[in-house]
Amino acid sequence: MAQGDGALDSGIRPVGTLAADVVLRPCTEGDLPAVTAIYAHAVATGRASFELEPPDEAEMRRRRAELVAGGHPYLVAERAGLVAGYAYAGPYRTRPAYRGTVETSVYVRPDQAGRGLGRRLLEALVAQAEAAGFRQMVAVIGDSHNAASIALHAALGFRHVGVLRSVGWKHGTWLDTVLMQRPLGPGDTSPADGTPPDR
Ligand SMILES: CC(C)(COP(=O)(O)OP(=O)(O)OC[C@H]1O[C@@H](n2cnc3c(N)ncnc32)[C@H](O)[C@@H]1OP(=O)(O)O)[C@@H](O)C(=O)NCCC(=O)NCCS
Repeated sequence: MAQGDGALDSGIRPVGTLAADVVLRPCTEGDLPAVTAIYAHAVATGRASFELEPPDEAEMRRRRAELVAGGHPYLVAERAGLVAGYAYAGPYRTRPAYRGTVETSVYVRPDQAGRGLGRRLLEALVAQAEAAGFRQMVAVIGDSHNAASIALHAALGFRHVGVLRSVGWKHGTWLDTVLMQRPLGPGDTSPADGTPPDR
């Protein structure tokens, strides 16, 4: 179901437990209006993404197609029939030696935050990226003050590996990126002799 940007503005974080009506499933083309709206709100109002202009739906469609074609997991969390959040494991960098490493993207509607959806999405993303044969998962978190994303990744076993100071300028302020990382499956304990690292 499509959700306009206005639907994201109600924004106070409710406190509550994760309801049984949450469904995690692969992102389809039909989810892209909702995914585009969630990301547009985050780009326009937040500092997690260093994009300055929200991409339109056509661009989000192009990005999804590229991820899916590359065997990268892309999930949505649907709650009571609405797309409440999404997550994908994209390429960390494009040069071929990085092919076993993926980077997380996790976004939850502000009016659905704090209810365990981010955790459920990231848990599923880790499991799917492991099953696909990726070996390392990296979080490049915009803004040292992004307590929710840092806590979310820590809860899923990501280790803090560094901070790049003041590498971004957005909303009139310098922004750090916080780097966190966790191995997937055998990690670096065996050669990259499976797919996709060996492709
Ligand atoms: C980061 C984000 C995805 C978290 O999703 P969420 O559904 O609100 O998170 P959850 O309710 O699943 O909480 C996950 C963990 O983070 C912690 N957490 C969540 N929000 C927090 C906050 N504001 N401050 C501190 N910890 C927080 C929770 O306590 C929980 O830890 P626990 O399971 O050990 O108790 C969501 O806040 C979001 O979309 N933020 C804007 C975009 C963003 O920063 N994305 C990450 C890009 S790298």
